[in-house]
This record gives sequence, C-alpha cells and structure tokens, in this order.
Amino acid sequence: MIFRQLFDSVSGTYTYLLASRKGGEALIIDPVIEKVERYIQLVNELDLKLVKAVDTHLHADHITGLGALRDRTHCITVMGEQSKADVVSMRLAEGDKLTIEGLALDVLYTPGHTDDSYSFVMHDRVFTGDTLLIRGTGRTDFQNGDARAQYESLFNKLLKLPDETMVFPAHDYKGETVSTIGEERAFNPRLQVKSIEQYVDLMNNLNLPNPKMMDVAVPANMRVGLAQEAIARRGWAIGANEAMTLVGRGDVTLVDLREKTERERHGVIPGSLHAPYGDLAANVQPGGMLHELARATGKRIVFYCAFGERSAMAVQAAQDAGITNACHIQGGIDAWKKACGPLTR
Ligand SMILES: [Fe+2]
Repeated sequence: MIFRQLFDSVSGTYTYLLASRKGGEALIIDPVIEKVERYIQLVNELDLKLVKAVDTHLHADHITGLGALRDRTHCITVMGEQSKADVVSMRLAEGDKLTIEGLALDVLYTPGHTDDSYSFVMHDRVFTGDTLLIRGTGRTDFQNGDARAQYESLFNKLLKLPDETMVFPAHDYKGETVSTIGEERAFNPRLQVKSIEQYVDLMNNLNLPNPKMMDVAVPANMRVGLAQEAIARRGWAIGANEAMTLVGRGDVTLVDLREKTERERHGVIPGSLHAPYGDLAANVQPGGMLHELARATGKRIVFYCAFGERSAMAVQAAQDAGITNACHIQGGIDAWKKACGPLTR
C-alpha cells in the first residue's frame, strides 16, 4: 500500500494520499488548495492516477483543493451527504464504502465539529477529520457544531474501534503526526469526562477565537462545483424535464456514470446503460464501448450521474474523443428526482 501524510504548515492541515499499488488509482483526503501542485507532482512521481478527492467536512481554516484537483485531473470530488458545498461529484453516507482500485474505506458519519463531518476507516487506521484530534477534539461552536453529537460520534463510534487502530487527524498544531484509539481514550484530556453533560459543558466553555481564514474559507468551500454553465453554453446540456422525453426512445442511449452503491441507493433511469466514470477514458476512445456504440448506431449519448459534475466532465471527454452528439443531464439524478422522473432499482 502507498500511504503519504502531507502537511500544510499555514493551516496545520494533514492531507493523506492513498493507493493500493504503484501505477494504480489514488485517493486524497483533505487537500489544501495551495498545495495542489505538490500533490499532483507526487501523484506523478509515484506513477498514480488520482481518481477521488475527499473532504472530511467543510473546512473553515483553509480553502479546499477539491475543485482545483478536479479541474487538473478530472477526479471525482467527494463529501458527505450533509455538506453545504454547492456541487461535489459524489456524496457519501454512514455505512457506504469509499472505494478506489484495491482499497475500500468504511464511511462513518461523525458529526459534532460540523454537521457534515465524516471519518474513514481503512484496516488498521482511521482518518478522523476534526472529530478526533491528537489529545484534542474539534471545536463545536460554529458551522452547526454540536458538542452532544460529537460526544456520540466519539464515544459510540470512534472509540469503539480496536485500541490499536491508528488515528490520523486532519490537523495538528504541535507537530504530532499519529496516535491510536487506545492512546486517545487513555490520555486525551477531552475524553476523560464522566458524562455527556460534562463533555458539553467542557466544549461550550472553550471560548476560542474564530479561525483567521473562516470568512474566506467557508464561502469558498461552499462553491467548489464545476462550472456546468460552460458545458450548457455549448449546447451539451439538457434539463431533467427534457431528458424525461427521451426515455425509451430508440435513437438515444442514456449512460449512467455512477457507482453501484449510488445506483442501488438512488435508483436508475429506466433503460439506461451503466458505464462507471472510472472507465470513461477507455469507453470514449475509438474502439471503446461508447465510441463504437455512437459510431455504429448514430444514437445520441446522454450521460448522467449524481449531480451533473461527472457527466459534465464526461461530455467534454466524449466530445474531445469525437462523439459529437454527446450531452448530459444537468444536475444529474438529483435534478431528475426533483422533476419526478421515473426510476427503477
Ligand atoms: Fe474543521
């Protein structure tokens, strides 16, 4: 396994790069915008392909690298389903798996620091975001923070992991890099409370100043979405209502770019073809499934995904590969559901 812990000294943020093998797919957790060049360089040096960029929560102390990484590498941006970010490609919920080739991380919803905070468990380690820090816990006094919810996340989820599980947080301000669940249970001063009330009392009386970057970072991090308007201006986007008139038509192929778990949870547009985003490059090239389908049948390819971000990138890739009648459903299944479009499981 490839595992790298990278540090942004300005915000004290740890960013993690994971891959199962050299030459394989990679995942990055909590990237910082100023460090994007460095991440891309490292990904190239290790001969990896970045396929997913994940934020554990909407950060208040730095601007996320999610949008820049997506623009540079066409990776999928991922956050929890509660996130206030305008568009991310994929949203996760408790019990989901965060997967890339050769790796599957368990998704834990661990609210408290914010209401969109998630932790990710991979074998012997857990990425705790700002829920559990080394000898600390994330503040709960802004961004819908909730000390009570955090107590539950800590005591009923994270501390239930095996003692030897390594803890990799999103931040450290003293130079600590890693801890374990057992060590934190024993020595983290915030975890030495006798009751939920005592924890709430402790967290509500920290009186911390707001992060320096807060007024800049929070609004910026809520607008990470790909500019889908550019695709629409070129005539490559259709609305959900228009897309509904295409279901069942012989001259159209609807192509679902989502992953299996997303299809199972949210349903599928009837009659659509499943071609996951990860296989897109191969599928749209000459000789690829979608390229040949479009060429042989003349059918119009209509991509869709969860929120329209993967499909917008797919339209561009398809057009670049010569599939000139490709378009996508703007807003994805989310917009489709709002328009009461039919779904099957
Ligand atoms: Fe945070």
